[in-house]
Order: sequence, then C-alpha cells, then structure tokens
Amino acid sequence: MRDEVYRHSQPHIVDFAFTEAVAAVFPDMIRRSVPGYETMIPVTGLIAARHLGEHQHAYDLGCSLGATTLAILQHNNTPTIRVTGLDNSAAMIAGARDRITDPRADFVEQDILNSDVTGATVVVLNLVMQFIAPKARLPLLRQLREQMSQEGLLIVSEKVAHTDPWLHDLYEQTHIQWKKANGYSDLEVSQKRTALENVMQIDTEQTHHARFEQAGFTRAIQWYRCMNWASFLVYP
Ligand SMILES: C[S@@+](CC[C@H](N)C(=O)[O-])C[C@H]1O[C@@H](n2cnc3c(N)ncnc32)[C@H](O)[C@@H]1O
Repeated sequence: MRDEVYRHSQPHIVDFAFTEAVAAVFPDMIRRSVPGYETMIPVTGLIAARHLGEHQHAYDLGCSLGATTLAILQHNNTPTIRVTGLDNSAAMIAGARDRITDPRADFVEQDILNSDVTGATVVVLNLVMQFIAPKARLPLLRQLREQMSQEGLLIVSEKVAHTDPWLHDLYEQTHIQWKKANGYSDLEVSQKRTALENVMQIDTEQTHHARFEQAGFTRAIQWYRCMNWASFLVYP
C-alpha cells in the first residue's frame, strides 16, 4: 500500500510513531525514504545468516514487519536455527506474524530495552538505535555485549550525522531530492521531517565507534554506507 501518511496538510504535526497507519504502508514508506534500504537489509540478512549454525539463535531487535528476519531465513536453510523479532509496536508485530509463517521465526511485542538475548549468536539492530533515548544507548549495548555469545556478531545500521557540516548538508539536500524523485511532495517531506524531529536523534559515526568500544566490543567495521546511512559489523 502506498504511503500517504503526510500527503495532506496537517494543522498540528504530532511526533512520529509506529502506529497502525504507519505499519500498513511501512514497506513503501521505508523503501522510498531510506536510501540504500534495499541493499542494506538483504545483505545484513545474508551476513547474519552466514554466521548462524545449527541450533543457534538470532534476534532482530526493532523488527517492524520482519524484513531482516525474513532475509536471514531466506539465506539459511538450516531447520534448527531460530530468529526472534522484537518490536514494541503492536501493529508491527501483528503484521510480521501475518507475513512470516516460517516455523523458525517468532515475533514478540516487547521494548528492546527489556530484552534478554542470552546466548544469541547474532543480534541485529537495523535502523532502531536512532529511536532509542540517547542515554539508553550505551546501557543497551553493554547488556547485549554481556548476554550474547562471545563468538557472536552484532549488526547495527543507522542514519548517521557527518562531522563535516558541508558534507552532511550535501547528503541531506540530496536525500530531499531523492525523496521527491520517489514521488513525495514538498509538503510530505517537510511534515515528515517535523514529525521526526523529536523522536529520531542520530549520532556521528565516531560516536557509534566510541560507544561500541565503551560497551566492550573489540572490533567494529563499517561495511556499508549510502550518504548518511551506515551499517556496522560489531564483534565481542
Ligand atoms: C525504522 S523501523 C526498523 C526497520 C526494521 N528493522 C527493518 O529492517 O525493516 C524502527 C522500528 O523500531 C521499533 N522500536 C523503536 N523503539 C523501540 C523499542 N524501544 N523497543 C522495541 N522496538 C522499538 C519501532 O516500533 C519500529 O518498528
């Protein structure tokens, strides 16, 4: 279904939330809004799948409709792997359960700040940390580091801020043009930006690297970048 959430002028823009209306159009919204999404998700799924062996468990934190979960399952035929998707949006979890019936997957409505990933071989946070309160980010990473397997892999994908203001602005302006080329009007772009202002807070790539280290991870590699979107492979 086509995303028309911000198509009409809204006298009062409320903070963006992952409501039923957003869940209903989410695949179209994210595809037309996040440059590189259609590469980032299948490849994170492939990398995660390669890391998962017999009887091992992956977590897709902030799974939305389960795109990453599905990508992992499609790249790994082992019947004994498990993939658990967590999201605190009831509409997203209901949609994920409808779409993905593979018995190796399950979906749980839960705040990821209360999650338990003990023994996980893979944990994926695709475009989620940016919606978590900044002060909760390091404690979350520390908890994941403590709970996941020592041989595990954490994948974190985010919109990032560029430290060079000129380059940041170049990418931001290009992003606006890209959204317009994908059929969004000026009004839609501007209303969505206003709605996201308080709820999506991005960090620089350097902040991410420093935080991975502070949380006890030993190695973090940026494997993907498309303008201001980046994805990291992070190792205990
Ligand atoms: C941009 S979407 C993630 C996209 C998804 N990972 C994918 O690959 O298609 C962000 C998701 O994170 C979820 N989310 C945000 N904060 C959360 C929290 N504290 N606990 C659980 N889910 C959260 C939202 O409900 C939303 O579905």
